[in-house]
Amino acid sequence: MRRKLEKFVDPLPEIRLLKPYKKNKDGAHYEMTMKQFRKKLHRDLPATTLWGYNGQFPGPIIEANRDEPVHVTWLNQLPNKHLLPVDLSIHGLDQMPAVRTVVHLHGIETKSDSDGHPEAWYTNNFRETGPAFSRKTFTYPNHQRGSLLWYHDHAMGITRLNVYAGLAGMYILRDKQEEALNLPAEDYEIPLMITDRSFNDDGSLFYPSQPDDAAVNLPNPSILPAFNGDTILVNGKIWPYLEVEPRKYRFRILNASNTRSYRLQLDSNTLFQQIGSDGGLLRCTVEMEEISFQPAERIDVIIDFSKAAGQSITLKNDLGEDADPNDETGEIMQFRVTKSLKNKDSSHLPSALSVIPSLKQNNVSAIRYLKLVGSSDEFDRPLLLLNNKHWYDPVTENPQLGSTEIWGFTNTTNFSHPIHIHLVQFQVLEHQPFDLEQYNIDGKIIFTGPPQPPAANNRGWKDTIEAPAANITRVIAKFAPYSGEFVWHCHILEHEDYDMMRPYIVVDEDEYDEK
Ligand code: C2O
Ligand code: CU
Ligand code: CU
Repeated sequence: MRRKLEKFVDPLPEIRLLKPYKKNKDGAHYEMTMKQFRKKLHRDLPATTLWGYNGQFPGPIIEANRDEPVHVTWLNQLPNKHLLPVDLSIHGLDQMPAVRTVVHLHGIETKSDSDGHPEAWYTNNFRETGPAFSRKTFTYPNHQRGSLLWYHDHAMGITRLNVYAGLAGMYILRDKQEEALNLPAEDYEIPLMITDRSFNDDGSLFYPSQPDDAAVNLPNPSILPAFNGDTILVNGKIWPYLEVEPRKYRFRILNASNTRSYRLQLDSNTLFQQIGSDGGLLRCTVEMEEISFQPAERIDVIIDFSKAAGQSITLKNDLGEDADPNDETGEIMQFRVTKSLKNKDSSHLPSALSVIPSLKQNNVSAIRYLKLVGSSDEFDRPLLLLNNKHWYDPVTENPQLGSTEIWGFTNTTNFSHPIHIHLVQFQVLEHQPFDLEQYNIDGKIIFTGPPQPPAANNRGWKDTIEAPAANITRVIAKFAPYSGEFVWHCHILEHEDYDMMRPYIVVDEDEYDEK
């Protein structure tokens, strides 16, 4: 067991903005290089070897304006040996180079060849490339509303390891409508990337090479069905603190953990005013005592420290510290209201934020019921599937370009899965509970209650949503503006890798006829 690390001894790092190397009429051009590097993550922990974009964890922030395209050349200069234990028994990984990467910008609407398809991977200096690889530079059109997106690795079968090693960063898309609201900005708008990790005493990252209760015949290394680290980091520091002024701040919070969900709370009865979700601003501000979020979800909140001068306020995780007294994950970071007010706080917290037309007005072309299923593999390991299909099975979800569909995620497992669809922002219609015991006996779905509307803070645009156990979670999406192959998956990275991810194709009829 690692020695205990004292909490709130390191300041929260500010994440640097990346400068484009060129700006022209096509937009802003960036270059980002994945590298191995060392960094101290806590005052009392020796430096950790990590992988990061431009040698940083989190990667630098890219800031973009709506309708101004961004082009990023994502270079791989990582070593040939993986930092973490790679299970070669899944997906024929023994046939592939151990270190492969491909970047996905989560939440973006872009063409399929810039989306970071899991098989569009490449190795150091593009020496080897996967079957779906087609370009070195990805283009993000940014024809969508302002929101916090994030980029992370998405390579087939090793996404959990690449992201855990540090390959993740944030991307802020801004728009005029949001700017006109006069929300807290600049020094008072702070992105927070929350992750969990475990460490060895020498400071190196710890990621198990096998499940705890591994049977003797298991491959070694062997993928885990889930992994929660015992240490919480924000912006790449372990349990940091942030000194703030007595005024309103805007925090753009991302859960970039592999498996861990959080239920955020502030002590001393401080409340969150939630103004946005994955896809940007909500219709109106929602006051929240606590906010739950699963891997890949984003929440945009205002916290008002104006009445808290001199106090320390802890950001807590109500889902941590349950049964185990050694569990320290019940705390995330600390705000210290120790700075004096520089200028009068003239920022605004409007109650009406934005207009979100309901997709329910659209003609619905298809309703698909998609089961989240638990099964097991030849080694008797848990194997989670979408609709009983493996990644390599032929495509089954093929919406028409421009059509609106309802997808009902029928969760027949015992736990929640954060389901993410590439290319689109969707709206959550409802969650409807069913009798899971009955389902396990005869496969029938017997509802145990009426559909429940989503929580108030999940009524805006979403690209990832918690599908709770024994519920059908219905979402509605318009599949546009691009045709081509994308993916949808569970964002628990240990699930995504094995095998809760499926390709889907947005079909352009016109294109089809011509061929
Ligand atoms: Cu953030 Cu396909 O993922
Ligand atoms: Cu995505
Ligand atoms: Cu899952």
